[in-house]
Amino acid sequence: MTKLLTGKEPAQAIKDEVAERITALGKRVGLATVLVGDDPASEVYVRMKHKAAAKVGMYTYDHKLPADTPQEEVEDLVRSLNADPSVDGILVQLPLPDGLNPDTVIDCIDPGKDADGLHPHSLGLVVLERTGGAIPATPQGIMKMLNFYEVETEGKVAVVIGRSRLVGRPMGLLLNHKSGANSTVIFAHSRTRDLPSITAMADILIVAAGRPGLVEAEGVKPGAVVIDVGINRVDDKLVGDVDFDSISEVASAITPVPGGVGPMTIASLLLNTVALAEARAEAG
Ligand code: GUN
Repeated sequence: MTKLLTGKEPAQAIKDEVAERITALGKRVGLATVLVGDDPASEVYVRMKHKAAAKVGMYTYDHKLPADTPQEEVEDLVRSLNADPSVDGILVQLPLPDGLNPDTVIDCIDPGKDADGLHPHSLGLVVLERTGGAIPATPQGIMKMLNFYEVETEGKVAVVIGRSRLVGRPMGLLLNHKSGANSTVIFAHSRTRDLPSITAMADILIVAAGRPGLVEAEGVKPGAVVIDVGINRVDDKLVGDVDFDSISEVASAITPVPGGVGPMTIASLLLNTVALAEARAEAG
């Protein structure tokens, strides 16, 4: 029987910790979000982040800009949030509308307020396996989930499908860390040949490609742990990137979509934000 790795319990444990740390800090903790355009999925995600932040006692600041906002104006908003003492964490929801360059917008975020861990400085610390920066929320949440469910990672083969800034690239690095997961990591992607033969090597398979049905049971090693990061709308239903029903027969454990990785991403965002607030308070 495959085990269902739901995000609800581990996410709640993180949120409880965040609430305690906010109380212990004894000051307001503020999270600002920037949403450009009217992508319905992004609107839902940002709303969920605000709701979760408010529940743990954070103050939230909701900035919405029209899709045709010039690059300079988005960057000016980020710089004003950098300068605002009531803001501890800044999140720019991705993707940005066509025509806007996400790199230069994210480069504008003060690394000390980078709640999503997407600034080159934060990602550089992940590359170097150094502490002190925010870790990207989704891969961090997945690591915490593996830990919560006591999934052994040391010496295991981990295959990551996808190499995005948000998930795949930092995910592989975290799994590779010597002081952490210590897995043997393979990055698979859209140019990978014979994907099923690569994924079939995985003890831990992380799928973050944004393509429903990309992985089927024949590409999964019996007993593997499968983490599905995809959220795709198909026939008005939310589905992941893997064929859940067939893989459930083969895998030892699998995340549901929705209700798997999603809650862990939000909880990790809140954890990053309170850690940044603590660091700012300590620095005075
Ligand atoms: N778009 C989809 N997921 C995320 C996320 O975790 N952070 C940001 N900033 N944008 C996203």
